[in-house]
Order: sequence, then C-alpha cells, then structure tokens
Amino acid sequence: MRLVRIGVGLVSLLLAVGSISAGVAGAQSAKDPLELFAPLYPVFSDDRCANCHGGVNVVTGEDHPGGPVNVKLQNDGSMCCDNKVGIVCATCHDEGAETDPETGAVTGTPWKLPQQRHSFVGKDLKAMCVSVRDNNGLNQGDKAQWNAFFSHLESDELIGFAFEGKRGITDKSPEGPVSAEPPPMSREEFLQKVDAWLRQGDARCGPWKGTISQTTTRNVIAGGNEDVLDAQVDITVEDGDAKAHVTANGHTYSKGQACEYRRDTFNLTGDTTIDLQLLFNSDMTGGFLPPGVSIPNVPNMPNIPGFGPAGGAGNASAADFESNTGYSMIIKSGTLKGTDAWEESTASGDPPKCTVKSGSSDWQYQPTFGLFQKQLDPNDPDHLKDSDSSSQGPDEIRVAWDLTR
Ligand code: HEC
Ligand code: HEC
Repeated sequence: MRLVRIGVGLVSLLLAVGSISAGVAGAQSAKDPLELFAPLYPVFSDDRCANCHGGVNVVTGEDHPGGPVNVKLQNDGSMCCDNKVGIVCATCHDEGAETDPETGAVTGTPWKLPQQRHSFVGKDLKAMCVSVRDNNGLNQGDKAQWNAFFSHLESDELIGFAFEGKRGITDKSPEGPVSAEPPPMSREEFLQKVDAWLRQGDARCGPWKGTISQTTTRNVIAGGNEDVLDAQVDITVEDGDAKAHVTANGHTYSKGQACEYRRDTFNLTGDTTIDLQLLFNSDMTGGFLPPGVSIPNVPNMPNIPGFGPAGGAGNASAADFESNTGYSMIIKSGTLKGTDAWEESTASGDPPKCTVKSGSSDWQYQPTFGLFQKQLDPNDPDHLKDSDSSSQGPDEIRVAWDLTR
C-alpha cells in the first residue's frame, strides 16, 4: 500500500515539477560503481586539489591570495611545458623548487596549473567521475591506463604537496608558514579507495550498459496526399550515459488545384545525446526519492500510465508503481538537423500556368520517447530486457531495450 502512495506522489510531481533538471541517471544501488567513486569525491573537490584544478586565476589574481602574477598561460589555461614557466610562482610556492647550488637562484619548479579541461570546480559526483575517467583514458578497460593513473596519484609531486596541505609553501617562503586544511583523508587511504573504484568498479561512473533501439514508421496516404517517415534510433548506453545514432528518411506530398503540388523529401543521419533515467520502485522507500536522484522532467510525455495522457483523455495503462518490482525508464533525445529537399509547383495567370521551383532547407527532427513503466524479471533484476509499441498520432513507434548492470 505504501508504495502505491509513493508512486502517486511521484507521478503528480512529474506533472507539477516539470522544470527540475535531472542530473543523475538512475537510482544508486550496491552495484553502482559511482558508489565506489563517491568516497574519492571529497578529495577531488577539496580546495587543495580543486584550487589548482580550475579554482584560482593567477593572471587576474581572482581567488588567488598571492594576487595577480605575471605569467604566460597557454590558451588551454595550462602552464606549458617545462618547469621554468613557474619560476615566478616559486618566489612564494617554493616547495620542490630546483635551485642553482652556487647562486641559490631558482632554476625550475613543478608548481603549475593544469589545463582548463582538467578543472575539478563545480562538478557534481557524476560529472567529476566522468571527467576523471575520460581525462585519464580509463573508459577503454585498458589496464595500462589504470596503472598509469594509479601511479600518477601515488607518486605525483603536486598531489603530494596537496596532501601536505601547505599549498606548496614551505616555512622558508616569505609567505610561510602556511597552515591550510589538508584533504579529509590521507594519501594512502585515498589510494586504497582509488584501487577499489578501479578494480571493483571497472573505473565506471554508472551502472547500466547496453542498447536501446527505436523504430518509427509513418505511412499516411490519403486523397492524393502523402506523409511517410521511417526513422531508426540506435542508442548505446555506457556507464548510464547514452548516445544515439539516428537515421530518418521520409517525404510529404500535398496536392493543390490543377497542377499545384508540394513535395518535401527529408533526410538525416546524425548523432545526439540522450538523457536516460531509470527509477526503481524498490529504491523509493519512506515516501522519498533516494539521495542524489532528482525528479525527472519528461517533455512530450505521450501518456502517464494510470492517469491518462498528459494533455488529453483516454488510453491509460496500469501504473507500475504499485509493485515493488516495477521500474520506470525515461528517455529524452536531443534534436537533430537534416535536410528537406523541396519542390513546389504554383499556378498563376489566366489560364493558369504552373511554375516549378525547388530548393533545400534545414529539417529538424527530435525522436520522441517519453516514459516506460515495466516489471523487473525477479530472477534477473539486473537485466532489463523488454519492448514497447505505441501509436502516437500517425506514428507507429517500437522501442526495444537490453540493459545490464
Ligand atoms: C599545483 C597545482 C596542482 C595541485 C595542487 C594538484 N594538481 Fe592535479 N594536476 C596538476 C597538473 C599541472 C596536472 C597535469 C595536467 C596535464 O596532464 O596536462 C594535473 C593532473 C592531474 C590528474 C590527471 C588529469 C585529470 O584531469 O584527471 C589528476 C587525476 C589529478 N591531477 C589529481 C589531483 C588531485 C587528486 C589533487 C589533490 C590531492 C591534485 N591533482 C592537486 C596540478 C595540480
Ligand atoms: C607573491 C606570492 C605568490 C606568488 C608569486 C604566487 N602565489 Fe599562489 N598563493 C600565494 C598565497 C599567499 C596563497 C595562499 C596561501 C595561504 O592561504 O596561506 C596562494 C595560493 C595559491 C593556490 C591555491 C593553493 C591551495 O592549495 O589552495 C594556487 C593554485 C596558486 N597559489 C597558484 C599559483 C601559481 C600557479 C603561481 C604562479 C603563476 C602563483 N600561485 C604565484 C602567493 C603567491
């Protein structure tokens, strides 16, 4: 009974809170590798790491207690490429600086800023995980990359400075002594957790992988007019992130008076991102969504099971929230741009004479999915394999999926 009430709450929230942004692709479970990345997050997002990774602007002096520094940054924000660029920094950040034994002058320093694309600032758990995974080539299952990543964290000098918590400023620096807070765990503990994410979590950032495919056919031929469309969307899901390859071909033809007509021929192949959300009834305990799971926003929702279509009447199927073994899958696609090759015949004069013009313009196409509610296979709850067919206006839409975690 309790779950029925929860389900109702969620569906009415779906309607009411249409604009909440949906960040997390699916409820976390014990099988979610993101849970193994989560204990690393307090370090990556800690000031000792994040201040170097995007947090300070040394050129303008913004958020830099040392003020503006005259240093040449590359276009990507980094201090390329050797240990000389940062000599100016070593006046204050003197840790690890190399000095000429005779003159005592600084000849090099490791203290430098990474590229902007290595920024750790403002990233939530999932975004941080994806960024660390992709920036270090950990998504190919390549063990050599994993090892390189691990040894970087284990032996990098700058990371060592961060764990000391002194901002690379020793007691000998004119700015020293500095006492800043080190990250909330030791480097050793951090490395153990990194190891668990790599070995038990396969360096992944989400649980689901597999495929979803959608076939749309429209075949309206009536009174000399035609509206025909064949579209195929092939979605690949990896780590809960989804991308789609889309092909769509079709045409419309409408007949006017005498020799008047217009024909549009549509063509498109392209790739787009997909927003995929999986919600499991069993995770929705106590009347609330689990932590980190936001209320999904479903545009163009064809109908809300149990409650009738979003903007009309009828066609309601049974709500799946009633059972603890139900799940909801929400798929939203981006818009793709294709071409519309058109030809138009218009009549003018008396007696009418037809002129034919043709051209090409942009054609926008956005696959429509909406919300699916299905039952888990109790013998195989980590394998979602099902399909769904529906009619939306003139379109026959079939969606089939095969996802595992
Ligand atoms: C003094 C600045 C500085 C500090 C402090 C620092 N880093 Fe870095 N970090 C860098 C630079 C520079 C790179 C090299 C980027 C490149 O390859 O171009 C880097 C690269 C990395 C990379 C690989 C690239 C990526 O985006 O994943 C990781 C992981 C990393 N650092 C983690 C950390 C962690 C964790 C801490 C804190 C414990 C930390 N860093 C503290 C400067 C710093
Ligand atoms: C005039 C001295 C001075 C110079 C030169 C200087 N800094 Fe700093 N920097 C500081 C001080 C002071 C702090 C804050 C220390 C504190 O809070 O006690 C700081 C903090 C930072 C931090 C934050 C580190 C952390 O762990 O929070 C970064 C990153 C940084 N500086 C980068 C640079 C870079 C890169 C350069 C060279 C381009 C540079 N600084 C040059 C004085 C300096």
